[in-house]
Amino acid sequence: MAATADHSTTGATAPTYYVSTPIYYVNDRPHLGHAYTTVAGDVLTRWHRQRGEQVWYLTGTDEHGQKIMRTAEANGVSPQEWCDKLVEEAWKPLWQHLEIANDDFIRTTEERHTARVQEFVQDLFDKGEIYKGGYSGPYCVGCEEFKLPSELLDGATEDEKLCSVHKRPVEWLEEENYFFRLSAYGERLLEFYAANPDFIQPASARNEVLRFVEQDLKDLSISRSTFNWGVPLPWDEKHVLYVWVDALQNYITAAGYGSDPERFNQLWPASVHLVGKDILRFHAVIWPAMLMAAGLPLPKRVVANGWLMVGGEKMSKSNLTGISPTDLTSHFGVDAYRYYFLRAIPFGTDGSFSWEDFTARYTSELANDFGNLASRVAAMVGKYFGGKLPASAAHGDAEQAIADGLRTAVATADRKIGEELDFAGGLAAIFEFVKQVNGYLTEQEPWKVAKDESPEGQARLATILYTAAEALRGTAVLLNPVMPSTAEKLWDSLGAAEGLGALAAQTVATTADWGRLPAGATVTKGEILFPRLEEKPAA
Ligand code: MSP
Repeated sequence: MAATADHSTTGATAPTYYVSTPIYYVNDRPHLGHAYTTVAGDVLTRWHRQRGEQVWYLTGTDEHGQKIMRTAEANGVSPQEWCDKLVEEAWKPLWQHLEIANDDFIRTTEERHTARVQEFVQDLFDKGEIYKGGYSGPYCVGCEEFKLPSELLDGATEDEKLCSVHKRPVEWLEEENYFFRLSAYGERLLEFYAANPDFIQPASARNEVLRFVEQDLKDLSISRSTFNWGVPLPWDEKHVLYVWVDALQNYITAAGYGSDPERFNQLWPASVHLVGKDILRFHAVIWPAMLMAAGLPLPKRVVANGWLMVGGEKMSKSNLTGISPTDLTSHFGVDAYRYYFLRAIPFGTDGSFSWEDFTARYTSELANDFGNLASRVAAMVGKYFGGKLPASAAHGDAEQAIADGLRTAVATADRKIGEELDFAGGLAAIFEFVKQVNGYLTEQEPWKVAKDESPEGQARLATILYTAAEALRGTAVLLNPVMPSTAEKLWDSLGAAEGLGALAAQTVATTADWGRLPAGATVTKGEILFPRLEEKPAA
């Protein structure tokens, strides 16, 4: 995990590019679905860091509520012990393993969170935004959410109703609760969505939210008194805060709300909240209304990703078919894992994982197109020029086409990955360029040119190999946010650090400037970037 961002170097005016993931329930271990969003956020923030922007990437865990409490009870430990164990043994280690460079990790049981949450709700209570009332209705503990009758499926008996997400029976809850006046915010929310058409993405998610808010919003029950695993309401300690109202505030408590105003001003509002499409309403309706009530600015964007599916169902703890992120990384490697899901599934849509598809992309895109290109170029510089990168002699049309191809790849990837969160599109543009460079080598046939020992022949060979190595220099920078270890290996193999410094110091803006890789750099063959895969492990 990266060290906490150094805010002392932050210019007072340039806002920080702040990205958050949902904070995950720690009732169980992380699975592929959680890792999907977290990797996406990591790539997005690494991309912006590489633009030279100040970035802050937040993830964490959601530790209160009935679901966690019951899991802990079933395991014979206290909820706090359960959360501590899962966070330290499962969640943090996975993010480290996947090279997630988050700047902070917030846990909702930390005092820096709970104390601020109490102040926030006390403030809403004092402003008359919260009142006492009664509620009864069907509740899904899996979602930690009251359901509308129209959202339920029929169960096995006449009385039984199932949650449409978890396919498990909902429970009837009836209690005296405190309520947040959500119903008062419908108009203001609709005005806000209209004035900020990019607030909710993709368009399908935005439409869903608009339809929902256009119906009458109901006030939101925000407290529970039948169990005590949560943040106590400061004015009535018999109640704990509804877990979602507690959890949503992580985005401000971690950013210094109520504790470090200067830092909070620098970080808030968040640039992007990444969320799964199932938790969109919480982020695009309830959270903005709570912020409006508190008089705080709203996040700039809420971007919903689709679900990873297994057998036509949302991948979840109960239907994982036994695949965990580390089962895949131990076979394909961490970088290929980071690449695969973003490349294979257009962000925002559902997608299925298949071992066969992963294997096919690994072999054709990563090992053949990209890995072989890198090793062939290094091998030829070794064989024909003793490992010293030759200077380009004459930059002709074919070379200009490669330089132009790099410029297009940089511009397209910067827009698609950095702005549109179209990771698949951005990666496609980068790999289009890799293909173009392979085509250039196939046409130029440096291995044949090498047989011509005349000065012209050697000059031509130098130009071809310089061009290919320089193209790889650009590719290493472009792929660094997605596959940091691989990009680093390539950087080392090109000897790029000698003239250009660390890979981490390269910026997107200079990547397309042709001729940056200095002639004379020591090019070495290095490790194979994407080794042949072993046999698929037995299920
Ligand atoms: N704790 C809440 C979030 C609070 S944020 C203030 C929560 N946690 S969760 O662990 O159940 O889910 C977290 C995220 O993981 C959600 O965005 C959810 O969409 C995502 N995913 C869970 N299963 C998934 C897939 N199969 N595929 C993609 N994302 C999935 O909800």
